[in-house]
Amino acid sequence: MLTLRHKEDLDFIVSHPHHSTLAKPLGLDSLGPVTAEEAHLLERLDAARLPRHIAVIMDGNGRWAQKRHLPRIVGHSTGVESARTTIETCARLNIEALTLYAFSVENWRRPKTEIEFLMKLLRQYIRNEMPLIQRNNIRMRFLGRPDDLPLAVQKDTRDAIGATASNTGMVLSIALNYGGRAEIVDAMNAILAERRRHNGHHDSAPITEKQLARHLYTADLPDPDLLIRTSGEMRVSNFLLWQIAYAEIFVTDVLWPDFNRARLFEALLEFQKRERRYGGIEAAPPSRAAR
Ligand code: FPP
Repeated sequence: MLTLRHKEDLDFIVSHPHHSTLAKPLGLDSLGPVTAEEAHLLERLDAARLPRHIAVIMDGNGRWAQKRHLPRIVGHSTGVESARTTIETCARLNIEALTLYAFSVENWRRPKTEIEFLMKLLRQYIRNEMPLIQRNNIRMRFLGRPDDLPLAVQKDTRDAIGATASNTGMVLSIALNYGGRAEIVDAMNAILAERRRHNGHHDSAPITEKQLARHLYTADLPDPDLLIRTSGEMRVSNFLLWQIAYAEIFVTDVLWPDFNRARLFEALLEFQKRERRYGGIEAAPPSRAAR
């Protein structure tokens, strides 16, 4: 039984329940040709219970290269292929938001040549992938502190945001010079600045969770419900600290350059196996205001 379907098919089934057998399986045409392994995994996926927001820590590029006696940067370039596949597949599955951890505030400690290579790779990615991004109706965002990035990178990111702003599909956020603690500090400072603008220095009302969430880089996105980390490390590494409060965490030993569509489907299947309780007894998310 292939349960994944086009969104239009799902809408059709909801309004015409007895016609559900007419629905086309989504996996076979919206995703393009699928391998036998992918088709087997797709059969077990429930289109109605996909995560709304997937966040990914793309780890293991260096180890992948070292295992092959190649320079670390070859791992990063091969990792771009995995990013491309993940982005396109999520967009075609109608996932609302995908957030990829490309460069953390801690990554400046890497050798200068590796940092320069990563920045070059990102600029190339933004330029080369624009047709794929546009074809898939994707909106691009960047999460992090842009001011510390090279000016050319800042310009390319601004251009990518502008060029995709009127798209209406998946929001692709690339975390770049990103830190979870830095993001919370930035949100607090934004609240203080807003108060100074509106009320002078005398507003000492307590800050609420809702108010803080509204000032995060991800303010208008749902919180990630699935966090994927490759290469086996059981760490969160300062990624989306606030937003992953209720996320299901899926860690795989697969190194990022080996992460492909079948591995993504496995992560989605594992997500669907878990019962989500959010600290209560029912599998329903707490309302934003209650968080
Ligand atoms: C972690 O591997 C990976 C990174 C720090 C960079 C991730 C960047 C890309 C995949 C390319 C560009 C991104 C996009 C969105 C196009 P690591 O070097 O820490 O690996 P290791 O732990 O094995 O050393």
